Amino acid sequence: MSKITKVLIDENKIKERVRELGAEISRDYQGKDILMIGILRGSVIFFADLIREINCNVVIDFISVSSYGASHKTTGEVRMMKDLDEAVDGKDVVIVEDIVDTGLTLQYLKKVLLSRNPNSLKVCCLLDKPERRKVEISSDYLGFTIPNEFVVGYGFDYAQKYRNLKDICVLDPKG
Ligand code: IMP
Repeated sequence: MSKITKVLIDENKIKERVRELGAEISRDYQGKDILMIGILRGSVIFFADLIREINCNVVIDFISVSSYGASHKTTGEVRMMKDLDEAVDGKDVVIVEDIVDTGLTLQYLKKVLLSRNPNSLKVCCLLDKPERRKVEISSDYLGFTIPNEFVVGYGFDYAQKYRNLKDICVLDPKG
């Protein structure tokens, strides 16, 4: 049985930071339409809160890639499970990700989306765990940098559980 050991970032802190990120994105994209792309499934809650803090025209779409713990952890391989419905060509695109860990997922997604000729491509990520990075990659907009601990809640899961918690918590898998 795994156990939650502590709250790392509480609901209020998350709300405040998401509001700031939304304001920053709104300022940078004034007068433009943004194609916001959520990475399923972890970013869904962050995504839903973030887009409501943005006062530009926003179109949303979702993409799904092979998840944490799958083959890419050992082989560096990331696979597309569900592609976008929207075209990317000529659009101002913002990828919304839950966490940058090894960086392999984001590296793969940026490569795929850049090959479709967007007008611009930026990344907004809620959390960053820099200690675990395998490839050099960073976010244009970042919520919080965290230590090398496994987190659940606010969209983050362990074996598909805990996504509905309001706070971001640390999980001890051996608990
Ligand atoms: P990366 O390709 O190693 O950067 O992996 C990113 C993905 O791993 C994220 O989109 C998450 O789904 C998952 N992940 C990484 N760290 C955690 C964590 O602490 N809790 C839950 N999921 C995580």
